[in-house]
Amino acid sequence: MSNTINDVAILEIPRVHDERGLLAVIEKETIPFKIERVYYLYDVPSDAFRGGHAHKELYQLIIPLSGSFNVLLKDGKESKTINLNKPHKGLLIVPGIWREIDNFSSGCVCLVLASSVYNEDDYIRNFRDFLAFKNT
Ligand code: TYD
Repeated sequence: MSNTINDVAILEIPRVHDERGLLAVIEKETIPFKIERVYYLYDVPSDAFRGGHAHKELYQLIIPLSGSFNVLLKDGKESKTINLNKPHKGLLIVPGIWREIDNFSSGCVCLVLASSVYNEDDYIRNFRDFLAFKNT
């Protein structure tokens, strides 16, 4: 699995702005995968640690609908941390990237669009297994 953290991208979500506020729209052209599942994290304690895994095939777009959090990304060689804090900027995470999410702000809501239904077999939850997966 050759994806690197350089394949992870911030996607700008198109917005319509008028005096009544902002309307952000995600259509099928906005994201490079077909949405098969939507889930969201809320009531997250500020000291919570989420993620701590990679996916073999899953694509995800992570959007901070409200508040902010940090996403640490690792590809086995390099790592970087991205602070997500704008509801019109989503993080596209491709398969084969380790992620850890923390530093949740109070009242944070994290929306996740995913390319397949939930499948535990798609998870790599051990970092050593992840490194082995990256070397195959
Ligand atoms: P997990 O993906 O580990 O959460 P996070 O990456 O946000 O820390 O999932 C936490 C628990 O929820 C785990 O027992 C699996 C379950 N779960 C589902 O049942 N369906 C889902 O769509 C997701 C994402 C998780």
